[in-house]
Amino acid sequence: FGSNLLGGKRVIITAGPTREALDPVRYLSNHSSGKMGFALARAAAEAGALTSLIAGPVSLETPPHVTRVNVESARDMLAACQERVAECDIFIACAAVADYRPANIAEQKIKKGGEQAQLELLRNPDIVATIAASEVPPFTVGFAAETQDLLAYARDKLQRKKLDMIVANDVSTKGLGFGSDDNEVTVVWDSGQQVLPRATKLALAQQIIKLIASRVSESS
Ligand code: PMT
Repeated sequence: FGSNLLGGKRVIITAGPTREALDPVRYLSNHSSGKMGFALARAAAEAGALTSLIAGPVSLETPPHVTRVNVESARDMLAACQERVAECDIFIACAAVADYRPANIAEQKIKKGGEQAQLELLRNPDIVATIAASEVPPFTVGFAAETQDLLAYARDKLQRKKLDMIVANDVSTKGLGFGSDDNEVTVVWDSGQQVLPRATKLALAQQIIKLIASRVSESS
């Protein structure tokens, strides 16, 4: 996969989960390992792109020739992306961003109380939709992690978030999606779609990068 499909293109990829602090020792998060996003960064760099990886907290090594920025919360991730979006041709949002964060971050460890406790949450900004709405938007690719009605929800997100392409990821099958080494996805764009059958995340990342490169060259 040492082609020059994305030679000279500047690519930003988000990967991993975000962590939304509750107090100094606790947070809300999810099971994203970062593997899919890191595989995309490896594939993009191998295809000749100048690749930046905005990574939530994961324990993975940075792929060769990739610039990595570590972040924790959704708001940190958005700020890191916005700082760089003016110098970006292709934006790929693979991170599993927390949709909500605790309304308050307690300064001290929250003490145990009664049998029930409530948590007030606030909506986080939508990173990929914000990037797609920027003045000169890059070619913007989202993911849709769904447990039902995969393609309908993916097409809805493609339109609602004004994306150029979306990678529909059924996360209801054991051994695929979150945390696994393998995955299976359907890449969707306005006028078409392509099923990418089960393979390693790196093999899929290479196919996704090829599809992105061909859509980018058609639209420029
Ligand atoms: O990290 P792995 O263990 O390898 O697992 C890979 C994966 C399952 C996390 C990945 O393939 C995947 O599907 N990533 C998207 C996860 C997700 O949060 O999907 P979503 O359908 O909730 O979000 C839709 C899109 O909006 C995504 O591109 C997401 O990055 C983006 N988003 C969501 C919320 C938000 N506040 N900001 C965003 O940018």
